[in-house]
Amino acid sequence: MAIGLNSLLDYCTKNSSVFFLTVQVFPPVNFTLTVSALAQVLLRWKPSPSQEQKNYTIRYDVKISSPVFEEYDTRKTHSFQTAVLHNGFSAHVRTLLFHKGLQMASGWVTAELQPPPGAEDTAVTDLSCITHFTISGAVSLHCTWLPGKGAPEDTKYFLFYRYETYTEECQDYIQDKWKRNIECRFSATHIVPDEIDELVVIHVNGSSKYATIKPFQQLFNQNAIEKVNVPRNVTAFLEQNDLVATWEKPLSTFPKGCFEYEFYLINLKSGNKQVIASLVPKHYTLFLPLS
Ligand SMILES: *[C@@H]1O[C@H](CO)[C@@H](O)[C@H](O)[C@H]1NC(C)=O
Ligand SMILES: *[C@@H]1O[C@H](CO)[C@@H](O)[C@H](O)[C@H]1NC(C)=O
Ligand SMILES: *[C@@H]1O[C@H](CO)[C@@H](O)[C@H](O)[C@H]1NC(C)=O
Ligand SMILES: *[C@@H]1O[C@H](CO)[C@@H](O)[C@H](O)[C@H]1NC(C)=O
Repeated sequence: MAIGLNSLLDYCTKNSSVFFLTVQVFPPVNFTLTVSALAQVLLRWKPSPSQEQKNYTIRYDVKISSPVFEEYDTRKTHSFQTAVLHNGFSAHVRTLLFHKGLQMASGWVTAELQPPPGAEDTAVTDLSCITHFTISGAVSLHCTWLPGKGAPEDTKYFLFYRYETYTEECQDYIQDKWKRNIECRFSATHIVPDEIDELVVIHVNGSSKYATIKPFQQLFNQNAIEKVNVPRNVTAFLEQNDLVATWEKPLSTFPKGCFEYEFYLINLKSGNKQVIASLVPKHYTLFLPLS
């Protein structure tokens, strides 16, 4: 007679109890957070010295609880995270141990970054940024913001952008009537035109004699903030009884297929206006019979 189901279950239970009784899973030690760049944190930890490593697969479960929830596991003992840090950052890590199809987890250890100091309502608000693909092939960046409601009149704001590992402070500010910086331009940046979904990190801090100014950070997807240029080489001429218009794709990192065009026709004599929307041209030419 073959081995009965009950004795098989018995066997498995006994063997896994042996495993559970003899293997302990310890949380990692020395878990630290370091700001490694603007809006970037380096999480580091060490395996517990008490942890038996032989014959087991050890991984780590990382959980970010603030500012944005995220959970993942890794074999490594460090990890980089991109996140806005003006409201602080909080993360947890635990050890996962795999052995013969069983998984065990330790308790969590936690580390936090406190929000940077600053008086209430002194951070900038309404930050908005756009990029342009320029004729020289570079990407320009233009940002505007409003001073915080609680920011003293002498507040001076400073804007920085980070793209991958490159960070630069703005040198070209535009000011409001109290001489506070409220706008900044970079005529050329290190933003790579045809990257997809890369982030542009913006950091705005400031100083004042009367208050500590709270910094503010925002992450922009580079594709989402590209401001489309106008079509190039627009021409219009008459050919017999047709008005012929031609144009070319605007300077852009986006390919041809991403564009639609609108055509406004204004008859100066009659004042009639005609809008031809959503043109998807094959040859960038439009023939309009003139009646
Ligand atoms: C954890 O940090 C302490 C103090 O810095 C150090 O003495 C210890 O060796 C570290 N533990 C490990 C496993 O690196
Ligand atoms: C664990 O590994 C050691 C050698 O590293 C080996 O001698 C031993 O048999 C292994 N034990 C199990 C249960 O696989
Ligand atoms: C603003 O942030 C930059 C970049 O982190 C830093 O070097 C600078 O000291 C900060 N300035 C103030 C006034 O906090
Ligand atoms: C637009 O016209 C200029 C001058 O005629 C020409 O040099 C350029 O190549 C044209 N642009 C494109 C995208 O064809």
